[in-house]
Amino acid sequence: MRFMTRSHTFLAAILAVFWLGGSAAAQTEDALSALVDAWLASPHGNYHSPSFTYWNKDGAVPVQCAACHSQPGFIDFLGADGSAPGVVDAPAAINAPIGCASCHTQAAHALDSVTFPSGVTVDGLGASATCNVCHQGRASTDTVAAATEALEEDTVSPTLGFINVHYGVAAAVSQGSQVRGGYQYPGRSYAGRFFHVPSASTCIDCHEPHATTVELEPCLVCHRGVEDIRAIRMRHADFDGDGNAAGGIHSEIMGLHAQLLDAIKLYATDVAEAPIGYAKGTFPYFFADTDADGEIGPDEAVFPNRYQSWTPRLLKAAYNYQVAAKDPGAYVHNPSYMLQLLHDSLESLSERVEIDMAALKRP
Ligand code: HEC
Ligand code: HEC
Ligand code: HEC
Ligand code: HEC
Ligand code: HEC
Repeated sequence: MRFMTRSHTFLAAILAVFWLGGSAAAQTEDALSALVDAWLASPHGNYHSPSFTYWNKDGAVPVQCAACHSQPGFIDFLGADGSAPGVVDAPAAINAPIGCASCHTQAAHALDSVTFPSGVTVDGLGASATCNVCHQGRASTDTVAAATEALEEDTVSPTLGFINVHYGVAAAVSQGSQVRGGYQYPGRSYAGRFFHVPSASTCIDCHEPHATTVELEPCLVCHRGVEDIRAIRMRHADFDGDGNAAGGIHSEIMGLHAQLLDAIKLYATDVAEAPIGYAKGTFPYFFADTDADGEIGPDEAVFPNRYQSWTPRLLKAAYNYQVAAKDPGAYVHNPSYMLQLLHDSLESLSERVEIDMAALKRP
């Protein structure tokens, strides 16, 4: 790869960026090449990922997508290229993953506040501010409320389509009710940012920013005796009502998530009178279950067969189902917020279809 054969010059350039002199530079060079290798093996450095190749047929990443899907687009968004900050001015290069110059410009280092899709700005994000730009999703309570207001809650509306929060929405979930990344039902209160503990609170406290991975070791100081992060639990309640409160908090969220899909299917059949199903990994995820077998087969998971019998109540629940699906780390990013969203989605559907809410607990 051309990138690697030029790596010596490349490293020298990076050392210059970090203002390191002669002997310090020599000492750091090994550490630096380890860091570059970690980045190359990470999702941010994956040249082949759909995240960086999806637009190759068009030749450029359009402005609505470029901030998060192209290094020059992110540089443009931050204004590090001299353009106005906070907007992408021009379509950006394809095949341009999130490299060193995404996060290591003066503008990126100075970034401290980030505006989320709800329009709410969060300050004091420090060295994790860049993460919050790209992992904030693309929709919020406000998007769903705007699409459904003035419509009858249980009447199928042909103007409605599925609203997808987008992918890797860890920052939206972490910030909780502050940024309204999930659909928050009116009259309910929701958990704000999950601060956890001071040593493991921000994105880069837990994720090494180049490898993006999380080490279990430092967690064990407090969470003794677990062999897997997903086994961690601090709360004792049986949130999903399955009679088992022994596994990790992750299993409570998974339990509620599965019940929510069953409830969505029941409501779609009984109230919207059109069976629905979910196809993990195929946009736009919710499809008409034409043979009503409870599954979405390959012939059903095609765009023309996307689900089109949405009522406002169904859309809200489906939105939250997808928020949970697109932050697989929600149980560590903000367990209360995710448990509340799933609980309230089930509770809303239970107003129209038979769901046993008695066993479920809301944190
Ligand atoms: C606010 C940042 C942001 C914007 C803007 C954005 N995306 Fe993304 N997108 C992401 C992130 C982050 C991921 C990867 C999540 C992961 O893999 O964990 C992603 C993943 C994707 C994927 C891969 C999905 C998959 O299933 O792996 C596609 C396709 C995609 N985005 C399309 C788009 C399109 C099209 C646009 C513009 C209309 C867009 N994105 C705008 C942040 C963004
Ligand atoms: C997604 C954002 C991101 C990308 C991409 C990125 N870095 Fe970093 N880098 C960071 C953050 C965040 C820190 C920690 C800053 C802090 O703690 O104040 C950091 C720290 C560093 C440091 C200081 C030593 C250390 O390990 O903490 C060096 C050197 C560095 N990065 C080099 C690079 C190089 C070289 C690349 C490209 C291969 C790169 N970075 C890509 C975000 C990034
Ligand atoms: C410029 C946008 C951008 C920035 C900044 C950014 N990310 Fe990402 N991140 C992405 C995209 C796009 C992907 C998906 C890459 C892929 O599909 O290969 C991703 C993937 C990830 C993943 C892996 C998700 C998975 O599906 O396995 C983690 C973890 C992650 N990022 C954490 C971070 C952290 C922590 C920071 C801040 C240090 C950060 N990201 C900064 C855009 C960004
Ligand atoms: C307390 C530690 C902690 C904090 C703080 C944290 N994360 Fe995570 N994150 C994790 C763990 C652990 C996972 C892996 C979850 C799993 O796979 O079970 C994860 C998963 C992810 C994923 C999804 C990876 C995948 O497999 O799809 C992304 C993206 C991500 N985190 C980004 C972030 C961002 C951005 C922030 C800051 C807003 C953040 N994380 C804050 C621990 C943390
Ligand atoms: C300094 C001690 C400490 C460290 C280190 C620590 N945690 Fe925690 N963790 C806690 C405490 C205390 C809580 C309860 C916080 C609360 O609910 O407000 C918690 C809660 C959690 C929860 C939610 C559990 C539940 O039942 O709601 C998860 C998941 C978690 N931690 C994962 C991690 C991971 C992953 C790491 C390592 C990256 C980590 N923790 C490091 C002390 C710690």
